[in-house]
Amino acid sequence: MGKLMVLTLLGAGLALIGERVWMLRQKLNAFREVEPVDPHNCHLIEGIENGSEDIDILPSGLAFISSGLKYPGMPCFAPDEPGQIFMMDLNEQNPRVQALTISDGFDKASFNPHGISTFIDKDHTVYLYVVNHPHMESTVEIFKFEEQQHSLVHLKTIEHELLKSVNDIVVLGPEQFYATRDHYFTNFLSLLEMIMDLHWTYVLFYSPKEVKIVAKGFNFANGITISPDKKYVYVADVMDKNIHVMQIHGNWDLTQLKVIQLDTLVDNLAVDPDTGDIWAGCHPNAMKLFLYNHDDPPGSEVLRIQNVLSEKPSISTEYANNGSVLQGSTVASMYKRTLLIGTIYHRALRCVL
Ligand SMILES: *[C@@H]1O[C@H](CO)[C@@H](O)[C@H](O)[C@H]1NC(C)=O
Ligand SMILES: *[C@@H]1O[C@H](CO)[C@@H](O)[C@H](O)[C@H]1NC(C)=O
Repeated sequence: MGKLMVLTLLGAGLALIGERVWMLRQKLNAFREVEPVDPHNCHLIEGIENGSEDIDILPSGLAFISSGLKYPGMPCFAPDEPGQIFMMDLNEQNPRVQALTISDGFDKASFNPHGISTFIDKDHTVYLYVVNHPHMESTVEIFKFEEQQHSLVHLKTIEHELLKSVNDIVVLGPEQFYATRDHYFTNFLSLLEMIMDLHWTYVLFYSPKEVKIVAKGFNFANGITISPDKKYVYVADVMDKNIHVMQIHGNWDLTQLKVIQLDTLVDNLAVDPDTGDIWAGCHPNAMKLFLYNHDDPPGSEVLRIQNVLSEKPSISTEYANNGSVLQGSTVASMYKRTLLIGTIYHRALRCVL
């Protein structure tokens, strides 16, 4: 009897795991192939080969690109190279990237940049905030940008017990930002979190005076950005394949207005400052991202969401590729007619639309 009981329980346990693994494959879109969408005027950016995970463009057309992310569970083809921040002036006829030098006194060898966000103060000084994972920890680094010297001067490292497993940030003011937390554990356990569908990651508000959780219940909170009028934030839940539209309140709390459901794993979000449209870098099939295969690499997909606040936002695919050109797109950022598309561990693409 006892043995039968154990066998029954074991069987039920295995069935549950089997069902969860099946669900995980569904969640990762393991069965999806992309239909190509090519705007025809796209070129790979020379000098970027080891990722371009996040891109932020200043109103002047200067783009910052974070490169060389080492992320648990994700392939990395340059494991021994420290991460870098590249700069590119999109006003140039044939823009070229340039790696920014980082001031001394900052541990460059363990630099592992992830989400980035820029901030311009009253004196027009430009600051770059970078989510960093030195030794797989999470910090937010604040740099001052010196345009003439093409350099970043490190000002401050922010650490906090709530700033764990940070994915992306959006700066609101001096030393003030929202950040997304993407998981609780690392490696294998974070896979378990995805399988178990725990929905326990969150959005955090940080300021020197107050640090608090302002939104929770995400399966895997990823990209975050703010609307041009600064009234709303948009949060991507990559595992739930959706974008949460949230209203900002006076005390920086967030309330959810709606969720835009998609059929692709949404990574970073950017807003076109001219139109207010959301541009989303997405993973059409995230299974191919984790289980990398040279002969069948992960593809790329860029979605544009217009009329975000209306009852029926319109969603269009602006770029899609099966990985033959661009693998594992994470971000799509617009400046005038120029679209920059970044990736986790592959190259970067510039399109003129
Ligand atoms: C990318 O990484 C590889 C392997 O470490 C290295 O040989 C190559 O120079 C890197 N490319 C760039 C553009 O940093
Ligand atoms: C990807 O698409 C290209 C043409 O667009 C095609 O030649 C290639 O075979 C495709 N690769 C895979 C793995 O499907």
